[in-house]
Amino acid sequence: MASIEALRDKVRDVPDFPSPGVLFRDLTPLLADPAAFAGCIDALASPWHAAGIEAVCGIEARGFIFGAALARRLDAGFVPLRKPGKLPPPVVEVEYALEYGADRLQATAGALQGARRVLLVDDVLATGGTLAAAHQLVGRLGAGVAGAAVVIEIEALAGRARWPCDVPLHAVLHY
Ligand code: PRP
Repeated sequence: MASIEALRDKVRDVPDFPSPGVLFRDLTPLLADPAAFAGCIDALASPWHAAGIEAVCGIEARGFIFGAALARRLDAGFVPLRKPGKLPPPVVEVEYALEYGADRLQATAGALQGARRVLLVDDVLATGGTLAAAHQLVGRLGAGVAGAAVVIEIEALAGRARWPCDVPLHAVLHY
């Protein structure tokens, strides 16, 4: 398995993107490297092999890339959680606050078929608003969350504090 440091070497730091003062963690070099991509999926999957995961929910957009690969690795189905207006009806949605304004996440009604062991996946945990909203959306779909997996956790933004402390949250890389 690729070492954590080998994975970290494939993350490109981009200052002032998408706006001044923001340090963007670009995962495209990691995705483009076959060994690093495989190692990242192995590392994302490692806590969940015996967890009985029934479905993986990936969050648009980069959560789709990691979530779909992880679903295959865990022999689970994949369900996308999408930005508004992308999925055909019927949808279930949740609204959540951003620093300025609000956003929504939607999923296809009935997509999780009452699964009790759903794994949420995203590329980055920053303020935690998106992942918390995804947790709430899975509840509205009548399903249960077993845990969450992210490639990068930005610890200074304290997103973990918005995640239920009794539900496992696994991050591969910590910044
Ligand atoms: C980014 C990232 C996470 C979210 C994390 O998505 O991919 O989904 O922000 O932020 P939070 O923890 O502060 O909620 P973005 O909104 O940039 O969408 P994208 O993946 O479609 O670019």
